[in-house]
Amino acid sequence: MTTRAVVEGVGHYLPDRVVPNAYFESFLDTTDEWIKTRSGIERRHFAADGQTTSDLAVRAARHALENAGCTADDIDGILVATSTPDLTFPSVATMVQNELGMTRGFGFDVQAVCAGFIYALANANALIVSGQARRLLVIGAETFSRIMDWTDRSTCVLFGDGAGAIVLGAQQGTGTAQDSGILSTDLNSDGRYRDMLFVDGGVSSTGTAGKLRMQGNPLFRQAVEKLTSTAESALEKAGLVDADVNWIVPHQANIRIIQGTARKMGIPMDRVIVTVQDHGNTSAASIPLALSVAVAEGKIKRGDVLVSEAIGGGLAWGAVVLRW
Ligand code: UT7
Repeated sequence: MTTRAVVEGVGHYLPDRVVPNAYFESFLDTTDEWIKTRSGIERRHFAADGQTTSDLAVRAARHALENAGCTADDIDGILVATSTPDLTFPSVATMVQNELGMTRGFGFDVQAVCAGFIYALANANALIVSGQARRLLVIGAETFSRIMDWTDRSTCVLFGDGAGAIVLGAQQGTGTAQDSGILSTDLNSDGRYRDMLFVDGGVSSTGTAGKLRMQGNPLFRQAVEKLTSTAESALEKAGLVDADVNWIVPHQANIRIIQGTARKMGIPMDRVIVTVQDHGNTSAASIPLALSVAVAEGKIKRGDVLVSEAIGGGLAWGAVVLRW
């Protein structure tokens, strides 16, 4: 018998304020047409003044707990993937823990930028498979609107705020690819690419939060290549091939990256979950947001094989294969 980390519930939260592309036309040299054609983004949500990453995370967590039919008392630990925490410390995870009224267990944040949710899932899987936890909340939550340079048209039109969460629980499997739950993970990073996507501030350098800087075009080319190779590696580790995949649930940065990766894997777009048009790039929140929306729409069903992949600052990238 093999212990598997199985998805028991999923949820998400998007702030009320929806910002269409046309909003940026009023103060930047850009157009709805450019943003739509180059990125696939049509609108994004921005958090209200005073609304923090932990606020979004708590709402997504409550939704996921309800969906799983359990309460905070059933949870052993919380992992929050974020690069935009409320404070330098304590972690967003311990803030969520407190808000949910959890007085036992543990919480910590995972920082791998847009690949954060994949890294958090891999860590949660390891905790469950090794017997250190029975049930975990894994959350991706971001307020990237807080680190935008509103004079930089090449970045500020691309990002949005939001949160998604899943409940992962231990279940016995057979050790084969027929099991439910996480079947494989694949993590990678390469610090030589630091300048391709970074924030130009921090605690021990400037003492400020800083603003996001990105070399979009070179990153685009890295993304398609690295996302395809990590997805293929994860599938191989799981003993599966592209044809076994029911859904790619990719990081939602750019529709052209999503299409390019699917094309390289030989998977048609009607088997790819796409939410980038409605959410923009929500960094670590994008995959759990896409999962939650797709489950609510009845697309992803029990037994389906999913491959999720993401890349972000570092560069850090990775993939997870799981049976829903
Ligand atoms: O989540 C982390 C991972 N992030 C990514 O993977 C993002 C990867 N990169 C991308 O998604 C794309 O590279 C972008 C959407 C950022 C840009 O698309 P692109 O097709 O690579 O365009 P580009 O950067 O080569 O820029 C083309 C032109 C430039 O003008 P010139 O130099 O050709 O005159 C830019 O200055 O588009 C210009 N441009 C804009 N024009 C209107 C850049 N931003 C804008 C804008 N509106 N908002």
